[in-house]
Amino acid sequence: MEDIEHIEKEMKLINSDGRRLDGRSFDELRPIRIEAGVLRRADGSAYIEWGGNKVLAAVYGPREAHPRHLQDPARALVQCRYNMAPFSVSDRKRPGPDRRSVEISKVISEAFSSVVFKEQFPRTSVDIFIEVLQADAGTRCAGLTAASVALADAGVPMRDLVTSCASGKIDDVVCLDLNKDEDNFGDADCPMAIVPRTGDVVLLQMDGHLTYDEFQKAMGLSIDATKRIYEMQRDALRRRYSVTLEDILKEAPPAAAPVEPEPEQPREDDFGPEGI
Ligand code: CDP
Repeated sequence: MEDIEHIEKEMKLINSDGRRLDGRSFDELRPIRIEAGVLRRADGSAYIEWGGNKVLAAVYGPREAHPRHLQDPARALVQCRYNMAPFSVSDRKRPGPDRRSVEISKVISEAFSSVVFKEQFPRTSVDIFIEVLQADAGTRCAGLTAASVALADAGVPMRDLVTSCASGKIDDVVCLDLNKDEDNFGDADCPMAIVPRTGDVVLLQMDGHLTYDEFQKAMGLSIDATKRIYEMQRDALRRRYSVTLEDILKEAPPAAAPVEPEPEQPREDDFGPEGI
């Protein structure tokens, strides 16, 4: 036990040149790629790769809420199920819900509850499924960011997209977007989600300890990053729905070959100049 504590203390997460072990600076995000509309059977869907995270989000609804006793006659329910595939982590994860996945599902559904126009769809539910295929820390942020694109892809009316990111502290330095090693051996991690248009914070959690100043700095880094991630979400939706002239031509039926005009036949009464 003492050995492990000793190794953890000795483990340097920031090099002498100020770079993190994966080469990033303190305010650098891992590479992010978002694609909208990846599942045919869902009403809306999205796939995100965020560093080593690979996460799928699918949205169904608004549809009649079941079981019926859960129905709210005044508004829709927004429900989320976050799930980690058994093969998504280095030690096999036992399939099925656990305390952690129930907590993450709850905080994500609460985040979306505050942006979806629920009053427009009484007695229904909007069901969000988040499937983590590969995990490398920050899966709730990646899942929430993808689910937001999936909700928009499903056409669910919302105040705005929700964008999420985490910041934390490693080697006494406040850093953006911790990866797995930084999350494991760092001092704190603070995931948040924001409604970029209004600035409302709809998710805020903390694992570890930050002083007031460190917390302010972490929030500043995350808020700044959400602006960049928001643009990536919008780009994914634009790519899905923007139609180019090339697409229109591809969809259009092949143009009919131009019809050659029939050579004119002489009419019976058309005797020509020498016919008379
Ligand atoms: O993923 P996120 O940072 O939102 O949540 P976390 O509870 O702080 O988990 C951090 C990371 O620990 C996950 O992203 C996984 O890479 C890893 N983890 C794991 O290896 N096995 C689990 N049963 C749960 C999490």
